[in-house]
Amino acid sequence: MVQSRLMVLSLIVVGVVVVVGMLFFPPRWWLNMTKPVDLSDPVAAGKGLVEGYDCRNCHFIGEAGKSKGPALTGVSERLDAVSLRLWLREPGSVKGDTSMPNFRLSDSEIEAIIAYLAALDGAG
Ligand code: HEC
Repeated sequence: MVQSRLMVLSLIVVGVVVVVGMLFFPPRWWLNMTKPVDLSDPVAAGKGLVEGYDCRNCHFIGEAGKSKGPALTGVSERLDAVSLRLWLREPGSVKGDTSMPNFRLSDSEIEAIIAYLAALDGAG
């Protein structure tokens, strides 16, 4: 009796730890599974994401935005592909004390956003 209660209790504890862990440190495969983006028109998809995540609340992008962060005009040329992806995937790993939030973007979201930024820079 006591043993099976302990068993159930420890399963619950493990379950809670896993769920909380996934919420705070979602693994990449989970993000890719839960937030896939159709990349048949990446520029349009990226435009939607930039609006949805409200990147313009901090960045000047294209014709509009604010300047809490750097303007993203020309960013696809200024940064190499690896750093640009890293900024979107894990800003804190590029600059530890950055105020750029980690949006926990999936790989396809990152590709779409980069396609949109590159198109604005005239490279897409
Ligand atoms: C809360 C404000 C905020 C939001 C919202 C935000 N950013 Fe940022 N971002 C920053 C800041 C601040 C920096 C500069 C980092 C630093 O120097 O600390 C930055 C840096 C960047 C960089 C690197 C720019 C460079 O020239 O080095 C990219 C790319 C970027 N952000 C893209 C995005 C995208 C795309 C979104 C929307 C998904 C977004 N940001 C949303 C604040 C924000």
